[in-house]
Amino acid sequence: MSTPRISRRAEAVAPFYAMEFGKQAAALEAQGRRIVKLSLGEPDFGAPPAVLNAMREAMDGRPMAYTEALGLPALRRAISGFYAQRHGVDVDPARIVVTAGASAALVLTAAALVDPGDEVLIGDPSYPCNRQIMESFGARVTLVPATAESRFQLDAASVRASWTERTRGVMVATPSNPTGTSVPAGELAAICDTARERGAWRLVDEIYLDLSDHDARGRPPRSALSTDPDAVVVNSFSKYFGMTGWRLGWCVVPRTLAPVMERLAQNYFLCASAPAQHAALACFTAESLAVCEARRAEFARRRALVLDGLARIGLPVPVPPDGAFYVYFDVAGTGLTSWQFCERALLEAGVALTPGRDFGEHSARTHVRLSYAASTEDLREGLARLGTFLTGL
Ligand SMILES: Cc1ncc(COP(=O)(O)O)c(C=O)c1O
Repeated sequence: MSTPRISRRAEAVAPFYAMEFGKQAAALEAQGRRIVKLSLGEPDFGAPPAVLNAMREAMDGRPMAYTEALGLPALRRAISGFYAQRHGVDVDPARIVVTAGASAALVLTAAALVDPGDEVLIGDPSYPCNRQIMESFGARVTLVPATAESRFQLDAASVRASWTERTRGVMVATPSNPTGTSVPAGELAAICDTARERGAWRLVDEIYLDLSDHDARGRPPRSALSTDPDAVVVNSFSKYFGMTGWRLGWCVVPRTLAPVMERLAQNYFLCASAPAQHAALACFTAESLAVCEARRAEFARRRALVLDGLARIGLPVPVPPDGAFYVYFDVAGTGLTSWQFCERALLEAGVALTPGRDFGEHSARTHVRLSYAASTEDLREGLARLGTFLTGL
């Protein structure tokens, strides 16, 4: 049988190296090595107990039919209630699209908004799948270099400087993967204003927003929707609710986009997992939210442990994270590239990390991502191993 010709779109998609390193780590474990995995962004807690119970109850033998393509009405209302209660923003449930993780929300949004040749601005470093999804719908992604001065994030000045007549959209993930850092609220509003004034769409990935530090008065950071109600905002049950493998997320879209997303969702996915949607209703109870808040506090303790440990072994962190559970540290002083550092750390120290190459070009050779969504025990062990590894270089 002749081999099928692979589409140019698929050929252009680069591997997600974090997952590739994860596979290598699993292969070493299969050989009997104990590997400390600090390479993947998966909270080790799992779903809140009430959600697990709700899933057990839902599995009573009833047929699990498709839900509406936009999601269970009750879940969309619950998400709307979450915006009102936590973020102080009024979001009509009709504008909420429930999806198979933020990933499917990103696919639907790209399908709805991107035509071949459209330019899309994304910061470098950033989550690689975002630009891969945009490019697979024909977008020409401009990676805008971001430095420690702008918290490794886009700012309004760099957005203006990179704008061309073909620019159709701007994409920001705040807090960011791989740096864990947020765009300050005023700056995010300025970025969105810049794009809106030029008739472009704004896509804000807030999948780590609810893990962010609260302000001095104990208030959580606001969603981008509070200053730009017509931005497309993506979120997920994966991170704050600890439900990575459940494949459930959502996006909030402008009213006019909702029927477009509905048609696309009907054709692409029919609906997100029905059992996961039924169980996720239990995410928004006071009990589950209290569990998630306790976990957020635990992540802050782990972050302190990691920042202290990296400082002790001489690996600088140019901008400490304030939201997502990642630290982006600088390995230039070791004389190794980030790729060599990660390869040798895995083979010689048994610590799995992610090289900067996944996240762009600008700081890729000198920076490595560590995920502290791992147990305290693993974090201590990983830091100790990295210390010994560095001494031996
Ligand atoms: C910034 C960002 N966006 C989207 C995703 C996809 O998440 P989900 O599990 O909801 O598909 C991730 C996953 O790590 C991420 O880091």
